Amino acid sequence: MQTHQFDAVIVGAGGAGLMAALYASEGGANVAVVSKLYPTRSHTGAALGGIGAALGNLEEDKPLWHMYDTVKGGDYLADQDAVKVLAEEAVDSVIELERMGLPFDRTDDGRISQRRFGGHTSNFGEKAVRRACHSADRTGHMILQTLYQQCIKNKVRFFDEYQVVDVIMNQGAVVGTVAIQLGTGEFHLFHAKATMFATGGWGRVWQVTSNAHSLTGDGPAVLFRRGIPMQDMEFYQFHPTGLYGLGLLLTEGIRGEGGILLNRSGERFMERYAPSIKDLASRDVVSRSIYLEIRDGKGIGGQNYVHLDIRPETVNRYLAEAGESCRIDSAYIAKNLAETLDTCRTYLGVDPLTEPMPVAPTAHYAMGGIPTNVDAEVVIDENWTVLPGLYAAGECACVSCHGANRLGTNSLVDLVVFGRRGGKVIANYVKQADFIPLPANPAEQVQAEFNRIRASRGSRRPGELRKEMQHEMMDKIGVFREEDHMRKGIDSVTSLRDRYMNDLHIDDQGSIFNTDMMEAWELGCLLDIAHMTAESAINRKESRGAHSREDFKKRDDTNWMVHTLVSSESGEPYPHGIHPLKINSSKKVNRSLEEGDKRFAPKERVY
Ligand code: FUM
Repeated sequence: MQTHQFDAVIVGAGGAGLMAALYASEGGANVAVVSKLYPTRSHTGAALGGIGAALGNLEEDKPLWHMYDTVKGGDYLADQDAVKVLAEEAVDSVIELERMGLPFDRTDDGRISQRRFGGHTSNFGEKAVRRACHSADRTGHMILQTLYQQCIKNKVRFFDEYQVVDVIMNQGAVVGTVAIQLGTGEFHLFHAKATMFATGGWGRVWQVTSNAHSLTGDGPAVLFRRGIPMQDMEFYQFHPTGLYGLGLLLTEGIRGEGGILLNRSGERFMERYAPSIKDLASRDVVSRSIYLEIRDGKGIGGQNYVHLDIRPETVNRYLAEAGESCRIDSAYIAKNLAETLDTCRTYLGVDPLTEPMPVAPTAHYAMGGIPTNVDAEVVIDENWTVLPGLYAAGECACVSCHGANRLGTNSLVDLVVFGRRGGKVIANYVKQADFIPLPANPAEQVQAEFNRIRASRGSRRPGELRKEMQHEMMDKIGVFREEDHMRKGIDSVTSLRDRYMNDLHIDDQGSIFNTDMMEAWELGCLLDIAHMTAESAINRKESRGAHSREDFKKRDDTNWMVHTLVSSESGEPYPHGIHPLKINSSKKVNRSLEEGDKRFAPKERVY
């Protein structure tokens, strides 16, 4: 087995991983990025509409207002120190990206163009503000390309199509990872002083998702199996506007450019749910509103979707009614929402310039994940104890700057801001740290697990089990939740895991690009994540942000202004099979902004 040694190994080549790699290498570290995908295929490329930063290029804006919107949007569960870092460092992060060559759209006088997005307001909720800096509706794609080129320039070493399958610990620290080279099936050891997980999300737990097939929660699952708790797993965001039937993302930027949601009678129903900013309320609010319309029989033709309308004549009518002077035309839409037009025409044969788009909520983003502090160091308990040598950033991490519900555009901010901070901290850490030796046979347990999977001759193929899990999670632990229903969901996940362990069938016995075996391993990760999500959701007996319980409809700040930490009860070093979970709800939310400014104190959210 080959062993590679680097000061720092970054797992994942999305925006967070690349930003961390860039900064760690600029700080003098010898850095490798290990990624299951070719880097520019990472899911950051699917973040479309913009990156939020209070540049104030088109109207007055301030980081303080961005902070307020983020705390309110997160239903007051976000750690306010992290929110402050996010909003304040967003500004120079965006300018830095521009200087690296990112082709942002421009205002007439040459500054970075900005558009409206859900939940972003000026003056503490007064009115929608243009804060999302964009490159048409391909902003994430442009960030990815820009950062990858910078990393290449900086001589970061890339191990593309290597899947990290285990983390190695010794002497109380993380000392490396085990990976499989997908093309050969060979195991490799990566020995490092610092290891960062930037492995993205896990939308593939649900049936309808905006997430790519690769988003299977591998990073958090790998760490969880080694005893690292996961934070706030109950908070999973459904984006309001997935392309109906497919779940593909239709950017919130469409509504930012004036698009509106309509029910079967052509009513702009968000006027009832969010009278002030309507279609641009936060995502949890809009997704629930769409579901309520559908439940009420007001979906289009009585079906499970509503319409999203960006036709110029519709938008201009509403702009005129709102007293706004600007108007849009087809050429403007074709330029600024090019990806949207392409997606709708290609996948549904719908032309958004002449027809409304059929949309329904789609599983989109994990607010929870690997617990970290604002320097991307992984913490392992409610006392914020740091695990030396381990870092996390981006969607797989929970810093928590999004609290119970993330605002659109803040994912891109999160990954550049906390990826950069993590990269700087890693550069300093590796200067003073020595390599801790690898323990004996560090790949033994994970190799045994792969041998088990490869030799499976039961009756259930991974794809069948995955489909069943996705259906159960969509039905029982989706936008609306209720205890009995969720318990049934846990029973299903438990029985699926039992079949996964005892009745799996793998066709491909080979080593070269054995996607059959890798998909089965990823399914194990998804099942772990589904289990954690369901248990954490049952545990939280209130409704907050994206966690909406029919049996506990109100937010309960007295008892639930805390983060959830979920871990495996068995305490075994490498638990297989069905493992009962342990929940700890005593990690306090940091509410430091509120101490100086009562506007950040929890109150009822009105949009
Ligand atoms: O709607 C969007 O463009 C998605 C962006 C995000 O999730 O932040």
